[in-house]
Amino acid sequence: MRMYDIIEAKRDGRELTDEEIDFFVKGYVEGSIPDYQAAAFCMAIYYRGMSERETARLTLDMAHSGDMVDLSSIPGVKVDKHSTGGVGDKTTLIVAPIVASLGVRVAKMSGRGLGHTGGTLDKLESIPGFQTAIDESRFFDIVSTVGCAVAGQTGNLVPADKKLYALRDVTATVDSLPLIASSIMSKKIAAGSDKILLDVKCGSGAFMKTPKDAVALAQVMVRIGENVGRTTAALITNMDRPLGHCIGNALEVQEAVRTLQGEGPDDLTDVCVELAAGMLELAGVGDVSACRSAAREQIANGKGLDKFAEMVAAQGGDARYVRDPKLFGTDSCVREVRATSSGWVRRMDTERVGIASAVLGAGRERKEDSIDPLAGIVLERKTGDEFIEGDLLATLYSAEESRLDDAEKILRDAVELGDERPDPEPLIYARVTRDGVERLS
Ligand code: URA
Repeated sequence: MRMYDIIEAKRDGRELTDEEIDFFVKGYVEGSIPDYQAAAFCMAIYYRGMSERETARLTLDMAHSGDMVDLSSIPGVKVDKHSTGGVGDKTTLIVAPIVASLGVRVAKMSGRGLGHTGGTLDKLESIPGFQTAIDESRFFDIVSTVGCAVAGQTGNLVPADKKLYALRDVTATVDSLPLIASSIMSKKIAAGSDKILLDVKCGSGAFMKTPKDAVALAQVMVRIGENVGRTTAALITNMDRPLGHCIGNALEVQEAVRTLQGEGPDDLTDVCVELAAGMLELAGVGDVSACRSAAREQIANGKGLDKFAEMVAAQGGDARYVRDPKLFGTDSCVREVRATSSGWVRRMDTERVGIASAVLGAGRERKEDSIDPLAGIVLERKTGDEFIEGDLLATLYSAEESRLDDAEKILRDAVELGDERPDPEPLIYARVTRDGVERLS
């Protein structure tokens, strides 16, 4: 078999055999297939797509390219969640402790931010002492005793995705449905949880720009999960504006704490309650409506926050920061962005808002870049909000004065202001399960 023929077949729109897909994954991980052929193959997939059979085969080959985590020594049902990536998405910090506080274990392996999206590991590491690089036995121990842990990938998990994602990132082949589905589901399958809830983001800050595309991605991922015996469901949620008000690592931890205290923004709280309810339902705790009430109760009674503090302490973090987020302090350079006229926020290019935050120091351009934990943006107005001249639209934080001008320009260009109130947008579009698509808006 030759990689050249496989690239040519996909370029010409032919459906690949299982053996051809196996040959690619094995050869690419071993190094016998070079990056330039893998890049050409990804571009062919980008244009020609893959059938569901091809996507499922690619996913399983990738999942089995390295270690498979076996969580069976941890008692009870283990539920995982995964977001397809967005701006201001700090839901894991809120949802994992809520679910764990109700007795359902969450063994979550997360990633770092790249480009305009933030990463859960970077957010948690803004808490002094917090360790995300913990070995498997410590990770299992924390999941067993505390109920939830969030760590970087342990061992040699899905090396095929590590290599392929880095390649896609620099060859403009990230936003391809079969490549996203196989990348996410290979990691979820290898990470070992029994049940998987996917948060498929949709809108200007997401890979999937329309609800139709997001539902299509969710359906493929749900079917892959179900076919390998993992009960899988997905929520399609809005990423046409950032989630919550805070973007940036320590800023997002503080907003997560406020949300666990019952003082978070409505959009963030509602998405977190829905995600927690979805995970609890998958774990067999009750129907969605009962699980929703249970999740809200864990916010009201403070047990979700207690669980978060317990997890932070177990992972070496200073839990005083959870009890008193003012300890984080603020970055040294602050810029208030004020309205120069009156009107409504009509639209946000959420990806550009994420880039503005990265420019301030909250994100990375290249993998090896370091980040400034205190940098970021607090948005005072989002799509649908009214303002009058002089009102504060956003506050920017950075360690370097020189970054503020660029970030302010990117942010102002990303936000469309106008005289008319925009139509309201749904926050949660649909739920996708093996039984079909339930519209929620
Ligand atoms: N998140 C992933 O893990 N992989 C993708 O391809 C896209 C988003």
